[in-house]
Amino acid sequence: MKTFTELPRYRRLLSLWLLLAAQPLVLAQAGNVVNLQIKADQITAKMPPTFHGLMTEEINYAFEGGLYPELIRNRNFKEFVPARQNRQNPQASTPAKEPKDLVHWSLVEERGGAGSMMLDTGAPLNAAVPATLKLTVARATGNQKVGVSNDGFWGIPVKPDTTYKVMFYAKSAPDYAGGMAASIVSNDGTTVAATAQVPKLTAAWQKYELTLKTGNVKASAENRFVLSANKPGTVWIGFVSLFPPTYKDRPNGFRKDTMELLAGLKPEFLRFPGGNYLEGNTFATRFNWKTTLGPVEERPGHFNDAWGYWSSDGMGLLEYLNWCEDLHMEPVLAVFAGYSLRGEKVKPGPELDVFIQEALEEIEYVSGDTSTTWGARRAKDGHPAPFKLRYVEIGNEDFFDREKGSYDARFTAFHDAIKAKHPDLLLIETGGTSAALLTTRTADVNDDHYYRGSDEMAFNANNYDSRVRVNRGGGPGAPAAPPVPKVFVGEWATRVGSPTPNMEAALGDAANMAGLERNADVVMMHCYAPLFVNVNPGAMQWTSDLIGYDTMSVYGSPAYWAQQMFANHVGDSVLNIAASGIPAREWVQQPRPARPTGPGQSAPAPTAFVPPTPMPRMMPDMFFSATKDDGTVYVKIVNRSTVPQAVHITLTGLTSVAPTAKTITLSSASTNDTNSITDPHKVEPVTANISGVGPDFTHTVPASSFTVLELSGK
Ligand code: AHR
Repeated sequence: MKTFTELPRYRRLLSLWLLLAAQPLVLAQAGNVVNLQIKADQITAKMPPTFHGLMTEEINYAFEGGLYPELIRNRNFKEFVPARQNRQNPQASTPAKEPKDLVHWSLVEERGGAGSMMLDTGAPLNAAVPATLKLTVARATGNQKVGVSNDGFWGIPVKPDTTYKVMFYAKSAPDYAGGMAASIVSNDGTTVAATAQVPKLTAAWQKYELTLKTGNVKASAENRFVLSANKPGTVWIGFVSLFPPTYKDRPNGFRKDTMELLAGLKPEFLRFPGGNYLEGNTFATRFNWKTTLGPVEERPGHFNDAWGYWSSDGMGLLEYLNWCEDLHMEPVLAVFAGYSLRGEKVKPGPELDVFIQEALEEIEYVSGDTSTTWGARRAKDGHPAPFKLRYVEIGNEDFFDREKGSYDARFTAFHDAIKAKHPDLLLIETGGTSAALLTTRTADVNDDHYYRGSDEMAFNANNYDSRVRVNRGGGPGAPAAPPVPKVFVGEWATRVGSPTPNMEAALGDAANMAGLERNADVVMMHCYAPLFVNVNPGAMQWTSDLIGYDTMSVYGSPAYWAQQMFANHVGDSVLNIAASGIPAREWVQQPRPARPTGPGQSAPAPTAFVPPTPMPRMMPDMFFSATKDDGTVYVKIVNRSTVPQAVHITLTGLTSVAPTAKTITLSSASTNDTNSITDPHKVEPVTANISGVGPDFTHTVPASSFTVLELSGK
């Protein structure tokens, strides 16, 4: 069978016409040849050194049971679960659970063994763990077993020939003369994947470390972790940890398969720790970095009320930085700026000074040498070398603080204090796209956030073409105007598909990234959000997340692959590119649905006025960008139309162009196609070689596709 490009011209035109006729919405030129002119000797921007990055926060169980691979859930017995009301289906409502309910822990009594467990406030481990698990064994002789089991984060993953590290604190009452066994056991109790023993417990708290090595076992998630006693008497368990192997074997490090997927994105920076997670619903539940430091058993953890679940804070400030180190990323450190999600805030003055001081100390913890107080603390925590820090973000989405002048004043106070000590740090503001909230100081960088549907994303994909680049100031004689801030697109995504985006979303994303890359003189960095979702029922708070995972495996969505294709074909310079004959279609922006009114909120006024009916506007269906580095030109072509498109490319400014080239293409039979745990590779880029390439050639890209052309030219 012939491919499309091998068909005679009249057959190609006929099939394109037939496809076109079947697409009533496509109004202009779909199927016509699109002309793309690339001037390789005209550089419109140098690619910024940190252009593609990652945005992260604790959402959708991103770290708890995710990238931070602690397998024990509720390891310090402090977890609680608020009551959940289900108005549609009251039967599905769930009552609150308190720490005393020891969520995720169960009593194990086997083969006639008998005992009980409770949370005991009379035997604290330390200030961070004021109550511990008391196990009273009434009967345990011979092979009888009494213990406690933990069900982990949607199961405990067992993989063959794998070594797991166990750490726990325990002590015994004088009536107990036995030891303690640690095991990974199948949920039905029939298979022990691995087990190890502590021969004898002591009367004082003691830390125990064991290894559990599996053999040729079947991989499965249907397991639990069991600590069991072998004699009658009383024991206390103070803290329990079970770790699988980590990426680069880092202690308290990161899940291997997920890190490998992230490494494929070649990320250049990491924006952390949020997002809403930075702010918390109240000051008390913000990301309080100081309580996330040190040995894990000394971290109290906190309730992540921004997203509704317990955070162990195993993923603390140093772990974010270690993550940067493992993937060679620069930190983009977001500091708490005295404003929380439910509107709690402080004005500049002594109350805000507390948070400014906290931010200065945090910066010192990250980047100070060991002669500084917080640099020395970082060294004590295991990392003497300072981390390179260039970007600090003041707050998150402070455009939600609608009080006139509030963010302006808070930003000014942070700005002046930080710049006084660290004049070279670039400060990022979060007041919104126009930065209109700031009047007295200019940020170095504006953080833009946008989440859109696929048409809306495509419609806006060329927005940065018209971004103001130069501050013209007040005219002759006026003082020099400050430079216009650069753009950091700190959160963005095409939200189509759940839990992870589908091919349609990937095309919206690719269109947006073509616009970002083409405007790299003003857009200096960008990162998609959210990054992760645990696909298990009940784990997701936000749909359309780049990477999905469960206990056993991880996969990249089509949107992941679109990111990967951009990030693996960056180049060092952006080239002048002009396109004509781009297919376009009419698009009507649908009004956003009104926000539902909550209890106590007044309903919107009944039909006080009728909003105007939106008029159709023309939306391009193709998007382009071109970059180059020594000897290679990368042309990115996004085709959102439902027909293949012939693209006539002329390349000037090169002395020679090789006759063959490489294409990397992301496409699928349907834009609804997606990847999942059970079908992780359905939509992935395909690499091919093409011939007939030169300074003037035509290449046809498939319908609904994203293509990178890798041309060799000097
Ligand atoms: O990415 C999800 C949330 O969207 C972030 O936490 C917040 O900054 C934004 O509103």
